[in-house]
Amino acid sequence: MSWPGSNNNLEEHLGSRPDQKIWAIGGGKGGVGKSLVTANLSICLSLMGYKVVAIDLDLGGANLHTCLGVPIPDKTLSDYLTKKARSLNDLVTPTPIENLSIISGAQDDVGIANLKQMHKAKILSRIRELDADYVMLDLGAGTTFNTLDFFISADQGILTALPEPTSIENTYRFIKSVYHRKLKMAEDLLEVGPLIDQAMNAKISHNATPSDLINRVIEINPTMGRKLQSEVNRLIPKLIINQVRTQADIDIGFSMKIICKKYFGINLDYIGYLEYDATVWQSVKKRKPLLMEFPNSSLVSNFDRIIHRLLNLA
Ligand SMILES: Nc1ncnc2c1ncn2[C@@H]1O[C@H](COP(=O)(O)OP(=O)(O)OP(=O)(O)O)[C@@H](O)[C@H]1O
Ligand SMILES: [Mg+2]
Repeated sequence: MSWPGSNNNLEEHLGSRPDQKIWAIGGGKGGVGKSLVTANLSICLSLMGYKVVAIDLDLGGANLHTCLGVPIPDKTLSDYLTKKARSLNDLVTPTPIENLSIISGAQDDVGIANLKQMHKAKILSRIRELDADYVMLDLGAGTTFNTLDFFISADQGILTALPEPTSIENTYRFIKSVYHRKLKMAEDLLEVGPLIDQAMNAKISHNATPSDLINRVIEINPTMGRKLQSEVNRLIPKLIINQVRTQADIDIGFSMKIICKKYFGINLDYIGYLEYDATVWQSVKKRKPLLMEFPNSSLVSNFDRIIHRLLNLA
């Protein structure tokens, strides 16, 4: 199996400290490897010397702690939401891995789906205040507004998908929902709602893509249309195909990139794949982090390539 690009080592870039960045890991479907990716990208970054806080936003189904090999922390996000904890900083729990801490999601029914707009905005602004170079958000499955908003608000939105039809369909659905949500936000921000209504009411074909809609807005009002376009163009989701077994599985990511451009006008950035590997469930079973427990796993070089793409070092 092959992949274009370089083979640098994680250790090479020890020491550099960027401003805080938030990376969100999502995917339309459950069980596609979001927590695996969040945990191990967090480990990669912390091994490179960055200070990392991984936050389990899969409220209700939190399991990031297991992928990081730590017991469920005493205080979880639900303590913050129910005001038992005063600050997000009180929830930061160290892990045995240097530079890496975790904020655990709620185990009860204070679900992300129920998170009020105010709570969401507050959590986002408090996240920005955390003492970390990187904050990693493990999002739950599904396309609730809250999940979409965390994905959109992050500096990088990373999607994991499996090379199978249901997961691919769900990924497209997620991207489409993100696009619509982003359009809605841009609409509010730029006050172009009436223009969009006008474009929608105009005769655009039933199969019109979101980019057709923006083109129509540009025709009606070029200045606002272009602003809208540049706002939406900033949306460049990253894609990881997980559990690949063949070159054909790897190539699915390239096809998805082409389809996203053609049908949604979205630049999907395919940043790499993770092989199907028995060490994943072995590490879950042992409740130990994969990269630490199995340093010779083929996933080490998979993650290495992905982290370099994400840090723009490849
Ligand atoms: N590359 C892989 N090779 C083998 N097994 C894998 C791989 N990736 C994930 N798995 C298996 O799939 C399971 C689900 O992965 P993970 O918990 O990371 O998914 P998730 O998207 O976070 O799920 P949920 O939506 O339930 O939170 C893991 O417990 C593991 O057994
Ligand atoms: Mg998970």
